[in-house]
Amino acid sequence: MSRFSITTPIYYVNAKPHLGHAYTTIVADSLARFHRLCGDETFFLTGTDEHGDKIVQAAEKAGSTPQQYVDAVSAQFRDLWPALGVTNDDFIRTTEPRHKAVVQAILQKVYDAGDIYLKNYEGLYCYGCEQFLTEKDLDAQGCCPDHKVPPAKISEANYFFRMSKYQGWLKEHILANPDFIRPERYRNEVLSMLDMGVLDDLCISRPKTRLTWGIELPFDPDYVTYVWFDALINYVTAMGWPDGALFARFWEHTDHLVAKDILKPHAVFWPTMLKAAGLPVYRHLNVHGYWLIKDTKMSKSLGNVVEPLAMRDRYGLDAFRYFLLREMRFGRDASFSEEALVGRLNADLANDLGNLFSRVLAMTHKYFGGQVPDPGARTAPADADLGELARNAFANYTTLFARLEFGQALESLWELVRALNKYVDSAAPWALFKQGRTDELAAVLYTLLEMMRKVALFVWPVMPGTAEAMTAQLGGAFDLARVDLGAEAQGFGGLAPGTALAAGSNLFPRVDPPREEPAPQPAAEEKAKAKDKAKPEKKAAPAPQPDPGVIEFADFQKLDLRVGTVLAAAPHPDADRLFVVQVDLGEAAPRQVVAGLREFFQAEDLVGRQVVVVANLAPRALRGQTSHGMILAVRRDGGMELLTASGAVAAGAKVS
Ligand code: MSP
Repeated sequence: MSRFSITTPIYYVNAKPHLGHAYTTIVADSLARFHRLCGDETFFLTGTDEHGDKIVQAAEKAGSTPQQYVDAVSAQFRDLWPALGVTNDDFIRTTEPRHKAVVQAILQKVYDAGDIYLKNYEGLYCYGCEQFLTEKDLDAQGCCPDHKVPPAKISEANYFFRMSKYQGWLKEHILANPDFIRPERYRNEVLSMLDMGVLDDLCISRPKTRLTWGIELPFDPDYVTYVWFDALINYVTAMGWPDGALFARFWEHTDHLVAKDILKPHAVFWPTMLKAAGLPVYRHLNVHGYWLIKDTKMSKSLGNVVEPLAMRDRYGLDAFRYFLLREMRFGRDASFSEEALVGRLNADLANDLGNLFSRVLAMTHKYFGGQVPDPGARTAPADADLGELARNAFANYTTLFARLEFGQALESLWELVRALNKYVDSAAPWALFKQGRTDELAAVLYTLLEMMRKVALFVWPVMPGTAEAMTAQLGGAFDLARVDLGAEAQGFGGLAPGTALAAGSNLFPRVDPPREEPAPQPAAEEKAKAKDKAKPEKKAAPAPQPDPGVIEFADFQKLDLRVGTVLAAAPHPDADRLFVVQVDLGEAAPRQVVAGLREFFQAEDLVGRQVVVVANLAPRALRGQTSHGMILAVRRDGGMELLTASGAVAAGAKVS
């Protein structure tokens, strides 16, 4: 059994969790789940970074003590993760006693080895960065480029870690291990950092006269530890260094996951610290880019901070997780927008995956009473090309996912999902049914159901709730311990004939694109209020007159409105605006309805949708194609919306 351990950065508690934190943690969760699915023994760590000036300043601003403050914000992070489906094994806080003990033990070890020394230091200190800066680091105005303030001139004795001593070793290690830092652009960035000149030794202390909120140096009680030297050590604290079982089992299988902002501490400080302390280094440093909002950084002052829970509540957790992994090319920056999220949700999730599911379930109910049909010999899919495509899709997905190429991995799975939808159209189960070709029909539907079962397994790391719901709808229970991913990628026939399926499925209802709220206009509002005040009091409204256009209840009852699922839609051979649609209304054969929807929909947008049909409309020939009913829709500016039920209902359910 292989082992895999993954960490996120431990997040500063000077701000609430936002999209950036959620992204890293959801990626880590998807990786942890992926490795569990592959049968690997897995350990997944996240936590909070709670010492340093920044935290003290934030606590002061909030009017609380540092301890009260860090307790409150750390709890927000800890509680957020389960709400985003994150399954971390531990949550570490740097203010915990277990961490203090390990930091002090490592400091002592490095000090005893002679790699920490005291030096009087005069330098330019940026309180925002909590770092000394050199002249080279400053911008043209002599300010810190990140905080836009001039650094303070400080002269003090401090302890330094002999980082420069390990520069040569680090470079060799990176050269000898090509994927130690990945993707390659960040590896190159670190190599050029190391080639630029001699590394400075790292100042690792802060005098208590300036800062007390930190871990005391074990060899000098007048100092606390610099926050980065403290924070990085969390990764081994949580594994119980020096003699914890987790440390022995997982440390050398550890992948760190960070964004590009904290490349240097992880790629340079941390490995050299480990080397000096006599510890082996981690296995990979995985570095991703930044989520931007309309090409700018997220920031409180710009008011563009995206809250993960708001996204979950608006679009569903799995759609949010899917979007994050599908949209960002790992290592590059990406743009976040709700429009793009809705686009993915409607196209990939509602249209491709959701439709496939609802169509195939509906047909299995209709033709086989909701039970998995028996295809006879079950060793191969009914269509050899589809089988080949599926094997490739699963193999590519697995390879790409392990390489952190999540977007491409999902794309390769979706190639299969789209091919399955096409297979429904080309195999036309409704035609096989009409022609009484039951064996072929059983083989086609079995193939589809079996492929859907596999898709659910593979998609679990990214969309666990959806995967579990899909599995349940296919009459099974998601059981991680029994999954053999390698066998699933190759084999066929795991789904037992006769298994009872759930009644219906509407995994991803389509979502309307977000509308930009018009900005409030106080001036206009005030004007309106003033006008209202000036108005004389309203007179009582006259009693309503009976409307001559009303109908009696008995008239309404004459209408037979039914909900059905669109199984197929084909362009009318002789009319540009019409589709010839096959709708499953729970009858022996699909209902043919000719509908004027072609201006507004693609055929694939319709397939799988629940629609409301006027089922007792007298049949009517429209340019040679008979329509047995009417699909109800609503016109809106430049488009059209279909009437539907807000949740999944059985085919043919009556509207009343
Ligand atoms: N406390 C340090 C890390 C110490 S690890 C030993 C820290 N904390 S942080 O709260 O600032 O978190 C930085 C991390 O949050 C980034 O590396 C990244 O994982 C995540 N993100 C914050 N903003 C982000 C984006 N806009 N986009 C993507 N991820 C970003 O640094």
